[in-house]
Amino acid sequence: MPKRYTPNDKWSQKAAAEGYRARSVYKLMELDEKFRLIKPGMTILDLGAAPGSWSQYAAEILDGNGRVIAIDLTEIEPIEGVETHIADITDTKALDAILPEKVDLIISDLAPKTSGIKDIDQWKSVELSQTVLTVARDRLKSGGKCVMKVFRGGDFDEFIKDCKNEWKDVKTYQAQASRDRSKEIYVVVY
Ligand SMILES: C[S@@+](CC[C@H](N)C(=O)[O-])C[C@H]1O[C@@H](n2cnc3c(N)ncnc32)[C@H](O)[C@@H]1O
Repeated sequence: MPKRYTPNDKWSQKAAAEGYRARSVYKLMELDEKFRLIKPGMTILDLGAAPGSWSQYAAEILDGNGRVIAIDLTEIEPIEGVETHIADITDTKALDAILPEKVDLIISDLAPKTSGIKDIDQWKSVELSQTVLTVARDRLKSGGKCVMKVFRGGDFDEFIKDCKNEWKDVKTYQAQASRDRSKEIYVVVY
């Protein structure tokens, strides 16, 4: 019989104990504290949202005053106060159908399926982040913010340059709750 899954790092254990679906929630909490992202009344778009811990946290903060729209390639188990959708964020028509209005905040923890080949995975992450930037350009209200996860590597500096060409403010943040050797970094544009 396969062994039962038990989370073996402190963030996963904390998430399980506090009822969050993933350890990544603590990264969003850090980002929220640093950049003051989530405010009551907002419409928030969560890209790459499964299993759902970022949406859980966003819905908690909104506490019924606002909307959380969560999108992922895979199904997200229902979360109170969150509208969940199965869609590919590169599919513009699907996004049009889900999102008739502009949003105040985009949060993206998107991660591509990894191949194990470092350069390819990093490139795929930057490619997904370019898509997030396009979504932000088209669907963020004026004055809105977008935070996204990117994997550092060869294309990263070029990506930041693209962000700076287009957005007034571009900040990067390395979350304490990221795994020690992780190459992930969060980029906030507004
Ligand atoms: C690290 S997980 C997100 C964890 C989530 N923030 C949470 O707290 O539960 C990354 C997600 O990105 C999704 N993803 C990757 N490519 C996608 C795409 N093109 N469209 C939608 N979702 C995608 C994956 O299916 C995966 O669920």
